Amino acid sequence: MRRRTFLGGLSASALATGTASLSFGQVAAKRLTMPPLLDATSSGQVRLEAQKGRTAFVGSSRADTWGFNQPFLGPTLRMSTGRATQVDVLNSLDEEISVHWHGLLVPGTVDGGPHQTVAPATTWSPELELTQPAATAWYHSHIHGATARQVQMGLAGVLHIDDGQDDARGLPSQYGVDDLTLVLQDRRFSRRGEIDLSLTMPDRMMGFLGDTILVNGQVGTMAVVPKGLVRLRLLNGSNARIYTLALSDGRPMHLVATDSGYLDKPTRLSKLRLSPGERFEVLVDFSDARDVTLTSEHNPNTGMMGGMMGGRRQQSGRFSVLPFTVDPTLPTRITRQPDDLGGSRPNGDAANAIWRRLSLDMPMGMGMMLGRSDRRFSINGDAFAMGRINFRVTQGTIERWTVNADMMMHPFHVHGVKFQVLSENGRAPQRQNTGWKDTVLVNGSVDLLIRFDQPAPANAPFMYHCHILEHEDGGMMGQFTVG
Ligand code: C2O
Ligand code: CU
Ligand code: CU
Repeated sequence: MRRRTFLGGLSASALATGTASLSFGQVAAKRLTMPPLLDATSSGQVRLEAQKGRTAFVGSSRADTWGFNQPFLGPTLRMSTGRATQVDVLNSLDEEISVHWHGLLVPGTVDGGPHQTVAPATTWSPELELTQPAATAWYHSHIHGATARQVQMGLAGVLHIDDGQDDARGLPSQYGVDDLTLVLQDRRFSRRGEIDLSLTMPDRMMGFLGDTILVNGQVGTMAVVPKGLVRLRLLNGSNARIYTLALSDGRPMHLVATDSGYLDKPTRLSKLRLSPGERFEVLVDFSDARDVTLTSEHNPNTGMMGGMMGGRRQQSGRFSVLPFTVDPTLPTRITRQPDDLGGSRPNGDAANAIWRRLSLDMPMGMGMMLGRSDRRFSINGDAFAMGRINFRVTQGTIERWTVNADMMMHPFHVHGVKFQVLSENGRAPQRQNTGWKDTVLVNGSVDLLIRFDQPAPANAPFMYHCHILEHEDGGMMGQFTVG
């Protein structure tokens, strides 16, 4: 099925547009493009307009889509840390939206969560004062009950928090040349080429899974890279799909940053698990000039539920996410791994932390089998309610959160903070989780150490939730104040 989509999309678009094609095996692939870069590091100003558009994903038919400043998805925003950025978000859609800055350490009043709605034909103007270390963050809509659909339609984009020091660190930093921003998503399309928003019964329980992979909103493309070290800023912007990434010839990825910023030094990985909402930055060495493909294992959320829900999810083997081809005429800037990234690994003390236990709960029994909405997704048994603050945190304190998940894996995210993964299932965290994080895949149980520095009043609380968007919309979310 993947292959048919891939071939169909390629032949039609290459013929129709006459774009220069690159050869990849037996097929010709279009070259991957980056989202446009909206660099606000000198202006301190960002203007976003949520708008409708039409996008050709596969073949020549166009889909109704939404985007910021373009038909689908949004530009890559680049903001300086250490200064304020004035943002204007105009909503030209017909329904209310919000724009949440996932990964930004800013007060609840400008966080863009479900309480900060932007009505149609109005403008929201938050000022974002960033003081956090450089990192790759993102932004997306966050209307309770509509987040999954609005993100599927395209209301998402990447945000680089920049400190101007990447050249000093020896990191690739040329946007779209040796510093690639890669938004991984999956979609299904109807026969007419529209984005298929319908949910199958397994989708209702386990989150939406598409049959077509999009990178930066594009299907069947190939990245062209210089003969040297290339940085991949990976965002999983999918509603529910978990990627287990590896390179097809087994070459390693060198992890340099997690959600909330740089590590102290690169960590070599052969596999990287990327769950919805997470970002990782890795360096890949292309100095041997060989082509290679970024691949993924199938979604690991199967297990007991997958067996009950039917065979569609029982897939094994790997699929292609993005082929790379080396163009030796491109300038090679970086050829050796930096050894000091200037970042840190959290190493906090949980001894005096307030201890909270959260359990991510699935609907059970017949409600589950029928996808009935009277048996909701919840945390500690409470389905999200806009009017209920689940708990209050004192600003400046440190808490230890033990988060449990039964039956399937859930990517757990907290707004307004970065955290340390103290342990996973009672053992030291996997290497990919040893940096600062704001989203972590809970496969059993995790212990987190969190410091709450940003304020969040009762009318603009912070959210904590599963980042499988169908779970979040279904009630697997809570909210807290910090003050
Ligand atoms: Cu990326 Cu509360 O979200
Ligand atoms: Cu967030
Ligand atoms: Cu979940």
